[in-house]
Amino acid sequence: MSVMTAHASEGREAGSAMIGPGGWIGILGGGQLGRMTALAAARLGLRCHIYTPEAEGPAGQVASRVTVAPYEDLDALARWADSVDVITFEFENVPAASLASLAGRRPLRPGPRALEIAQDRISEKSFFADLGIPTAPWVPVHGADDLRHGLAHLGGPALLKTARLGYDGKGQLRLDPTSDPEDAWRSLGQVPAVLEGLVSFSREVSVIVARGLDGAVACFDPTENVHRNGILHTSTVPAALSEDEAEAACRVAIRAAQALDLVGLLAVEMFLTMDGQIIANEMAPRPHNSGHWTMDACHTDQFEQLVRAVCGLPLGDPGRFRPLRMLNLIGDDVLDWVSHLARPGARLHLYGKHESRPGRKMGHVNFPPTP
Ligand SMILES: Nc1ncnc2c1ncn2[C@@H]1O[C@H](COP(=O)(O)OP(=O)(O)O)[C@@H](O)[C@H]1O
Ligand SMILES: [Mg+2]
Repeated sequence: MSVMTAHASEGREAGSAMIGPGGWIGILGGGQLGRMTALAAARLGLRCHIYTPEAEGPAGQVASRVTVAPYEDLDALARWADSVDVITFEFENVPAASLASLAGRRPLRPGPRALEIAQDRISEKSFFADLGIPTAPWVPVHGADDLRHGLAHLGGPALLKTARLGYDGKGQLRLDPTSDPEDAWRSLGQVPAVLEGLVSFSREVSVIVARGLDGAVACFDPTENVHRNGILHTSTVPAALSEDEAEAACRVAIRAAQALDLVGLLAVEMFLTMDGQIIANEMAPRPHNSGHWTMDACHTDQFEQLVRAVCGLPLGDPGRFRPLRMLNLIGDDVLDWVSHLARPGARLHLYGKHESRPGRKMGHVNFPPTP
């Protein structure tokens, strides 16, 4: 049930600001999301200039230009910005000063507001609350006292998550009402956090929506996600959701993208509760691991959709033409790459990382799910 709607918004003309073949996209970040975006851009005759602190990274290997410099180097950032037509991001944790130095030089898509909200769980959860989008019960935590009150208030098992820089389950502690708040606050590193009630969900799903410069939105089918050790393990489409549940999930993602006035992609992770309610967990204003299945099952995949959106081009058809499962290849999983090549109907995507480490995303494989 992918959705596509077109509507002109705020008098912006879709055609007026198109970046076409030969144009330059600046991507801040040099990982696999940048790599797959650069490959999609190349297919449309566009070129990418990657900005990354890491020489020889996944994105730089396949891009037309690479600047290797720290994210805090404002001079290097300015030179990079001047060399491109539009700037996008493959992660949301862009330092605030760097973001401020880029704003005004070139269009930033998504804009600073989406990045700022998504890089802080407190503002992210407040954003959902302001939109009337339900989440797990939560409280902001700025010290052991907040934590003590929060544990009493939630009254059951809870997760303490750092407000910033958490990913793949890192920066999280599982607590219960008997946990010692002082200990937990210290173990987390005494940084701002959220404490949220543990949701007993029946399924975990996510929706990725693209929003164009003209306000058109195109939503991919909801995908069902399974995590292992806090890291995404598989994403499967179609998700086992009723039509109403799938629609509710898409509505949440579209509403959030519109409220952010976002141009680009927004991925929203959600839980389906035992009583059939869709609640939001977190969001990311960029391509998302749980959207890698779109590369081999959709008329337009998430990376091409991002390229189209940030370049002011018409969004593509997000429709899905087959059921699919994506399996992440984490750490030494990648050593089996040859066996995935032999799998009927499968497509293997490797990220060009030279060294496999535990928990490191090395590639993924998309294949038809067996019932
Ligand atoms: N409130 C919660 N209740 C139950 N499980 C949760 C909750 N929050 C997170 N999880 C589980 O932990 C995973 C990682 O948490 P998440 O908030 O998505 O952080 P990360 O930024 O590390 O992805 C989720 O995908 C989900 O499986
Ligand atoms: Mg997550």
